[in-house]
Amino acid sequence: MNRPIVQLKGVQKTYDGEHLVVKDLNLDIAEGEFLTLLGPSGSGKTTTLMMLAGFETATHGEIFLDGKPINRLAPEARNIGMVFQSYALFPHMSVAENVGFPLSVRGVARSETGERVERILALVGLKGFGERRPAQLSGGQQQRVAVARALVFEPKLVLMDEPLSALDKQLREQMQYEIKQLHHRLGVTVVYVTHDQAEALTMSDRVAVFNAGVIQQLDTPEGLYEHPTNAFVASFIGENNKLGGTVDSNDGAWCQVRLADGSKVGAKAVAAGGAGSRTLLSLRPERVLMRPEESGCDVAADARIKDVTYLGDHLRLRVVAFGDQEIVMKLPNASRVRAVAEGDAIRIGWRAEDCHALDAAA
Ligand SMILES: Nc1ncnc2c1ncn2[C@@H]1O[C@H](COP(=O)(O)OP(=O)(O)OP(=O)(O)O)[C@@H](O)[C@H]1O
Ligand SMILES: [Mg+2]
Repeated sequence: MNRPIVQLKGVQKTYDGEHLVVKDLNLDIAEGEFLTLLGPSGSGKTTTLMMLAGFETATHGEIFLDGKPINRLAPEARNIGMVFQSYALFPHMSVAENVGFPLSVRGVARSETGERVERILALVGLKGFGERRPAQLSGGQQQRVAVARALVFEPKLVLMDEPLSALDKQLREQMQYEIKQLHHRLGVTVVYVTHDQAEALTMSDRVAVFNAGVIQQLDTPEGLYEHPTNAFVASFIGENNKLGGTVDSNDGAWCQVRLADGSKVGAKAVAAGGAGSRTLLSLRPERVLMRPEESGCDVAADARIKDVTYLGDHLRLRVVAFGDQEIVMKLPNASRVRAVAEGDAIRIGWRAEDCHALDAAA
C-alpha cells in the first residue's frame, strides 16, 4: 500500500449528542487509491465524507491529511475536490465559469484559468461546451462539468457522494468508466460513496462496507465477494443462500454444522462459534452444482425444483433440499445443461470451501 494520504483515527460523530451515527472509525486511505464507502441508507457514508471535507466536525477522534491533523482546518484550506449529487452547478454561469470558479477563488490569473479550464473540459469530453449554460446540457454532461470543477485545481484528494445516482443505467455505466479512466490518468485519490454494490465493485481498489456507523469489512472487491467476514457483508455483496444451523464441531478452520433437518455438512469456519452455537451458512448461487458426484463436491443432497427462470446467459433455479430449505442456484446456459423443469428431482451439491459458516446475526 502507498503511504496513507488520509487517516481517520477513532473518529466518532453524533448530531444530537446521544446517538453515534459514526462509531469509532479507523481507516487509512492510500495515496492514489480509489476507495468506496458502500452501505445502506443512513449508515453514515455522507457524514464521513462531510467530516473529511470539513463541513462537519468529528465529535471524537482525529482526521489526518498528508500526516497533519485537520479537525480544526476550514473546508477551503483543505484543498479537497468535491462532487456531490446535490452540489448543483451555478445556473447563471457558463460551463467555463463554473469550472473556473475554484481557480478564481484561489486567485489564479485569468489567462492561466482559461488554459486549465480548456484542458480539463477536453479531458472530460466537453471540448467546445464552455460557453453553454448548465441548463443547455444533458444530465451526464452536467455531471461531467461537476467532475471537471472538482479536478481543475489539481487536488490530491477528490470526494464524490453518489455523483451518478440521478443518471439512467446506460449513462451511469458510461460515467463510471469515465471517472475510472480519469482516476487512472490523473493518479488522484478518490473517496467515493454509493449504495450501489455493482458500482462499488466495478470502480474501486478497496471498498469499506458500512452498516450503522461501523465499517463491517474493508477489502478489495474480490475479497468482499469471496471472503465475507460476517453475515451482513455476505448478504449485502452479491446474492447469497443462507442456511441456518447449529455448530457440531469447530477446529478453527473447518466446522461441521447440523441443519434443521438433522443432516450434517462441512463448511469453512469463517465466523462460527463453538459446538452448540447458532450459525448461518453462506453459499453463493453459482457455487451450488448439479451432478455433485461428478463435480468434486463435498456435500451432496437430493433436491426438488420449485421453479426455473430463464435469464438468457443463465438459468435460475429455486430448489428445496434438506427438509424444507430453499436454495437458489444459477446454472450457466451452456450447451451441456440438460433440460430442467419444475417438479424434477435432482441431485445438488457444493464444495465445503464455498460454504462459509458466519455469525448468526444478520
Ligand atoms: N445534519 C444532520 N442532523 C441530524 N442528523 C443527521 C444529519 N445528517 C445526517 N443525520 C443522520 O445521521 C445518520 C447518517 O446519515 P448519513 O447522511 O451519513 O447516511 P448515508 O449513509 O449517507 O445515507 P444515504 O445512503 O441515505 O445517503 C442518519 O441517521 C441521518 O438521519
Ligand atoms: Mg448519503
